[in-house]
Amino acid sequence: MTQEDVFKRLVAHCKEYGFVFPSSELYDGLGAVYDYGQYGAELKNNIKRYWWEAMVHLHENIVGLDSAIFMHPTIWKASGHVDAFNDPLIDNKDSKKRYRADVLIEEQIAKYEAQVEKDIDKARKRFGDSFDEKLFRETSPQVSAHLAKRDALQKRMAHALNANDLGELRQIIIDEQIVCPVSGTTNWTEVRQFNLMFSTDMGSTAEGSNRIYLRPETAQGIFVNFLNVQKTGRMKIPFGIAQIGKAFRNEIVARQFIFRMREFEQMEMQFFVKPGTELDWFAKWKEARLQWHQLLGFGKANYRFHDHDKLAHYANAATDIEYKFPFGFKEVEGIHSRTDFDLSQHQKYSGKKIQYFDAETNESYIPYVVETSIGVDRMFLQVVSASYHEEELTKEDGSKDTRVVLRLPPALAPVKLAVMPLVKKDGLPDKAKDIIDRLKYDFNCQYDEKDSIGKRYRRQDAIGTPFCVTVDHHSIEDNTVTIRNRDTMSQQRVGIDKLADILKEKTALSGLLKQL
Ligand code: GAP
Repeated sequence: MTQEDVFKRLVAHCKEYGFVFPSSELYDGLGAVYDYGQYGAELKNNIKRYWWEAMVHLHENIVGLDSAIFMHPTIWKASGHVDAFNDPLIDNKDSKKRYRADVLIEEQIAKYEAQVEKDIDKARKRFGDSFDEKLFRETSPQVSAHLAKRDALQKRMAHALNANDLGELRQIIIDEQIVCPVSGTTNWTEVRQFNLMFSTDMGSTAEGSNRIYLRPETAQGIFVNFLNVQKTGRMKIPFGIAQIGKAFRNEIVARQFIFRMREFEQMEMQFFVKPGTELDWFAKWKEARLQWHQLLGFGKANYRFHDHDKLAHYANAATDIEYKFPFGFKEVEGIHSRTDFDLSQHQKYSGKKIQYFDAETNESYIPYVVETSIGVDRMFLQVVSASYHEEELTKEDGSKDTRVVLRLPPALAPVKLAVMPLVKKDGLPDKAKDIIDRLKYDFNCQYDEKDSIGKRYRRQDAIGTPFCVTVDHHSIEDNTVTIRNRDTMSQQRVGIDKLADILKEKTALSGLLKQL
């Protein structure tokens, strides 16, 4: 099965098991907008909790904020979004389809990378156990040629984007003979800029109305509250403000399920530092954020940093944490050293002083900012794609079976424990419900009495429930149950009074947080 097929199955699985639904499906959907179902909402909340606790509760000098989506329109002028929050778009004249020029080029870069991986796979098959990947990468002329093409293309694109040279972007597409995936032709229009902000009107037209924007990032809500939080919280630099909230972008190329959406959620933290120290903090946050990701246990090799060649005009360093999705390495989180750009702009546009007085050095300054910014939905997709496994099983009688299992980190799993009476009589359902009543204040539990135990296990595997408990006739007599582990499928007899400790040890978020 190709990675593309795996991804298609994953998307279908998310819908079939109540994780993610297309928005407005009853009316045939709304492009790049999605709803989270009963398990999706739980998983999303757990991801947000992992981030919030790691950022806000584990750092004495980071506090939270929940700012409004609607903000004064001048904020977006000051931040540069009105003038410069654009995507370079190109249309194919034959298919009439519209693409982001930089995305078309990035896909071409990914093709060169895929060719390298193909060369390596071929060589591995040829040389068997004696294959030395590092040596092959360094010495194969074919690999070198593909990497040289990739690097040259990356450099040329960065140059064109930095210079805002739309003609050159088009020329790259022509020179690389990039074809439209729909028409297969290179019949391209010029490249044009397109602003990504959604706008609406506030106030009735009779009174006169104001054009306002749906925020395209949560960060500006933090910047404009810098003084409020600093003063009321008596915060001393360095300190951070963290926020989780919705953001909106009129993405033209909205593809790959919830990877790129028009309405999505961000978890952003702005860390305010003394000018001159920002690059040290940038390095610290890079490592801290990578550790947060890697702790989930999806394999360190599946993450990498991608330092930006094209720096936004306000940044003096920027990197992405990328994860190896089924469709290749892609950004999950951005870490940006944003200098004093945003606070200076708000000082200029509002006409109000935004400065920090450092009592130790007796000086006032506009703080510099290091930002960490991650999409909740993209993180959700990362977690689900890393957890999705189709497994072949051999049953006790030697026959084959298959199961789909979401090997979610237990702390993120929507349901921690499923409780199943073996039969729907003899007091077993009541006993099962008693167990849930004991545990439900600390763990999300689910009662399930329908179908055979085997089918019930499969249903729980498919939603990633780490533990299932079966209540049988012995349970009534001796207060013990069988607990089954999702990953190993092994079963063990334990006392009902031990369940809370087992669940706490294996599924509590604190277990993850303590390792940070
Ligand atoms: N304040 C900085 C900022 O917004 P960004 O790189 O544009 O930076 C940060 O976005 C993160 O938000 C990305 O790494 C990604 O996880 C998420 N994100 C951005 N656009 C998105 C979209 N259209 N759909 C889903 N997630 C998105």
